[in-house]
Amino acid sequence: MTKKLYIKTYGCQMNAYDSVRMQDVMAPLGYSASDTPEGADLIILNTCHIREKAEEKVYSDLGRIRAEKESKKARGEKMLIAVGGCVGQAEGAEIIKRAPYVDMVLGPQSYHQLPEMVTRAIREGGGIVELDFPTVQKFDLLPEITSSQGAAAFLSVQEGCDKFCSFCVVPYTRGAEYSRTPQAIEAEARRLVDQGALEITLLGQNVNAYHGEQNGKTWSLADIIAQLAKINGLERIRYMTSHPRDMSDDLIAIHGAEPKLMPFLHLPVQSGSNEILKRMNRKHDREFYLDIIARLRKSRPDIAFSSDFIVGFPGESDRDFDDTMQLVEQVQYAQAYSFKYSPRPGTPAAVDDRQIAENIKNERLQRLQDLLRHQQTAFNESCVGRTMSVLLDRDGKHDGQLLGKSPYMQSVHVSAPEAFRGQLVDMRMTGAYLNSLAGEIIDNTNLRKAS
Ligand code: SAH
Ligand code: SF4
Ligand code: F3S
Repeated sequence: MTKKLYIKTYGCQMNAYDSVRMQDVMAPLGYSASDTPEGADLIILNTCHIREKAEEKVYSDLGRIRAEKESKKARGEKMLIAVGGCVGQAEGAEIIKRAPYVDMVLGPQSYHQLPEMVTRAIREGGGIVELDFPTVQKFDLLPEITSSQGAAAFLSVQEGCDKFCSFCVVPYTRGAEYSRTPQAIEAEARRLVDQGALEITLLGQNVNAYHGEQNGKTWSLADIIAQLAKINGLERIRYMTSHPRDMSDDLIAIHGAEPKLMPFLHLPVQSGSNEILKRMNRKHDREFYLDIIARLRKSRPDIAFSSDFIVGFPGESDRDFDDTMQLVEQVQYAQAYSFKYSPRPGTPAAVDDRQIAENIKNERLQRLQDLLRHQQTAFNESCVGRTMSVLLDRDGKHDGQLLGKSPYMQSVHVSAPEAFRGQLVDMRMTGAYLNSLAGEIIDNTNLRKAS
């Protein structure tokens, strides 16, 4: 009998990828994926710990799921609840203390143990916690990926982080850096392409620190990109998230040499102030970052950039913040994410006594976001009239519309028949908005149907 599995994913793309892997690991036990928590036999919250808000969201969702579990119980049915992901790793058994209706807690490195945990939870009635960082990595223990991710797929090549930025929980929740072997990555990429992927985004918390070993040779991320570019049927390659310190010469060069590598890079800088960057332990200053940007532009002149910013880091002065605004003016981003600094338990910056008042954080965030919005709109407007290939992979807002991604990661909506879904289509851009472009199909000779 099939059982219903509902997975809710929070946080970054690595979690989205892990959720697919968890689905695959539970399939042989008769669990099939469901879009809603109603009536589910197993609910997994794949959580994020990066900011306080992300964590609070998990607890408020848990409250709602508890009600669902109780109404199932009243009908004489059972529901298991698991908390996985980075909150699972960071809080462990504390979660069960705070929410005793949670049956299992597991960290991001323990997903291969899910089937056994579920069996134990049924037998023992809950209280199962699995947080070890095993010596054999989960990728080697999980079954091959079987669920199709559609035309645009994620592939984790690297996990963990050794950078220890002073604000960040990731090195604690995901553990030390680990790179999968080139062989495993290529095999998985070929499977994704067989399942209909035209675009693959290579993922890692620190993806450009990738250094995989094969037959005594060390491969860089650029080597992986060059290898995957040879796969027939794979049309687009992206990677995220990168650290400026690890933008090696070969990676910068391949942006100019490999047309399948898309001209868009998410390269977080966090702050434009050297003093703050130093105290963030970012291991780069603004000049180093700006030099990388200039070299990437030289390699691939049309490359567009995105970044993450933190405002209100402890001790950030008006001058420091102005340095950030000035860096943004200099780079001209196509898109960016910005956050108010959120103190995280166990990180050095959380115990810094120069915490910034909430109203100052709010005011700085607003100013930064106004500037970033302005740049994003300007970038989108500069695309109107251009022809681009767009990967149509989702429903649009209205009937008869599809939504896709431009080479520069912009969302493009277009009136197109359903048959165009999952295809790469040449389009002319006809309109620009803050978060999207409108396009029209000009010619479908470049049309490639996903299998
Ligand atoms: N590995 C990536 C992503 C880390 S998490 C990187 O190095 O860029 C994604 C973003 O969340 C970070 O880039 C940072 O901008 C933000 N972030 C991390 N910790 C935070 C904190 N304590 N408060 C606010 N934002 C934070
Ligand atoms: Fe966090 Fe810094 Fe590692 Fe990114 S590089 S995951 S911000 S510690
Ligand atoms: Fe969040 Fe963990 Fe990703 S803290 S951003 S889910 S690595």
